[in-house]
Amino acid sequence: MVDNSKRATFGGKLSAVLVSAGGAVGLGNIWRFPYVAGENGGGAFLVLYIVCAILIGLPIMLGEFSIGRQTKSNPVGAFRSLNKSWRYFGYNCIVTSFLILGFYSVVSGWTIEYTVHSVTGEITRHASAGEHAAFFSSFIENPWKPVVYTSIAMLLTHTVIALGVRKGIERCSKILMPVLLLMLAVLAVRSLTMPGGAEGVKFFLMPDFSKVTARTLLDAMGQAFFSLSIGLGTMVTYASYFNEKTNLRTTAVNVTVIDTLVAVLAGLVIFPAVFSAGIEPSAGSSLVFITLPGIFASMPLGMVWSSLFFLLLTVAALTSVISLHEVVTVYIAEEWHMSRKAATRLATLSVIAVGSLASLSLGVMKHWTIFGKTIFDALDYVTANIMLPLGGLMTAIFVGVVIDRRVLHDQLTNFGKLQCHQERTVRFLLRYVCPIMLALIFIDNLGLLKWI
Ligand code: PHE
Repeated sequence: MVDNSKRATFGGKLSAVLVSAGGAVGLGNIWRFPYVAGENGGGAFLVLYIVCAILIGLPIMLGEFSIGRQTKSNPVGAFRSLNKSWRYFGYNCIVTSFLILGFYSVVSGWTIEYTVHSVTGEITRHASAGEHAAFFSSFIENPWKPVVYTSIAMLLTHTVIALGVRKGIERCSKILMPVLLLMLAVLAVRSLTMPGGAEGVKFFLMPDFSKVTARTLLDAMGQAFFSLSIGLGTMVTYASYFNEKTNLRTTAVNVTVIDTLVAVLAGLVIFPAVFSAGIEPSAGSSLVFITLPGIFASMPLGMVWSSLFFLLLTVAALTSVISLHEVVTVYIAEEWHMSRKAATRLATLSVIAVGSLASLSLGVMKHWTIFGKTIFDALDYVTANIMLPLGGLMTAIFVGVVIDRRVLHDQLTNFGKLQCHQERTVRFLLRYVCPIMLALIFIDNLGLLKWI
C-alpha cells in the first residue's frame, strides 16, 4: 500500500490552474489547432471545438481531477484503490505517457534546435523555401544532432522533475505559463499589423458553415481531446497534488479557457504572417519548421521574431513533456518503491533511449518499420489514435458508472464545503455523452468511418 501522508501538494489556487494548463498547452495548440481550424470552416470549427471541449473535455478533466485528488496516488494506484480490476487502465495511462514521450521529446528537441539556430541567425540566413525545406530534412535525418537535442530536452525536463513537485513543477509552471502568454501576445500584435494580415484572420476565423460536415465534428472532438491532455493520467497525477481547498470546477474551466485561448492566439500569430507573405498555408510540421522560418527570414528583425517564436514553441512543448514525465516518474517511485531521484533518473534514461530510436527512425533507421510506419510515426499513431481515446473512454465510464457516486460528489463539493449545481450534468455527460463521442473518435481513428 502506498503511504500518502507525506505527499507533496501545490500551493495556491493559481498553481493548480497554471500547472494543469502547462500540461495541456502544447504543440497541439500552436501548430495543429490553427491549421485544422483554417481548413475546416474557421470560426465554425472554433464553435464546434468549444462545444466539444465543454461536452467531453470538461467532464473528463473533472473525472480525472476527482480520482486523482480522492486517491492521492499515481494513475495505477488511483484506479486500483477505487476498483481493483480497473487497475489495467491505470497501466494504459503510464504506457501511453511513456510512448508519447518517445516522439514528443524528439519534436521538443527540434524546437530547441530551431531556437538555437534562430539566435545564431542560421535560420534567417536561408532565403528560399527550398533551402528551408532542405535544412529541416537534413536536420531531422542527421544521425546524431536530433539525438543530442532530444537528450537536451529530456535533461531540462529531468532537472525540473528532480527538483520535485513544489520547487520544480509548480515553480517552473508559474514562471513559464505567463511568459508563454506574453510571448504569444507580442507575436500576435506583430503578425496582425503586417500588411495583408487581415486575410489570414479571415481564413482562420471567418465562420464558414458550408464546410462543416460530420467529419468536421469528429476532427473537433479529436482536437479537443488531444489538446486538453486527457485520457492518459496527467490530470489524475497533477490533481493528486491539489490541496483540499482547490475548487475542481473552476480549475477545470480555467484550464480549458487558457488552452483554447492559446490555440486561438497561435492562429492569430501564424495566419496573418502566412497570408501577408502570400503563401498557401500548409499542414503541421512543414508549416512551423519550413514555411514560418522562410517568412521570418524576409521580415525586418526576423532573427528576433524567429527566436521568440521558437522559444514559445519550446516552452509549450517542455511544459507538456514535464507533465508526461511526472506521470511515469511518480508511478515508478510509488509502485516500484524507489526514491523519487532514482525514479526520475530511470524515466529520463528510458525516454532518451526510446526518443533516440524514434529520432533515428526518421533518418538512418528509416527502413525499420512497424506495420509500414517508422518508429516515430508508429508511436504517434498508436498513442494519439488508439490509446488516448481508449483511456478517455474508460475514464468516463469509470467515474460515471463504476465507482461509488460519492467520490464525484465529495470531490466536486470539497466534501460538502462548496455548493455544486452541476453534479448531475457532469455525471450525465460522463455516463452517456462522453462514451458515445469517444467511441466515435476511437472507431474513426481506426479508419472505420472513412465514408463520412
Ligand atoms: N495537450 C498537448 C498538446 O496540445 C499534447 C499532449 C497530450 C501532451 C497528452 C501531454 C499529454 O500539444
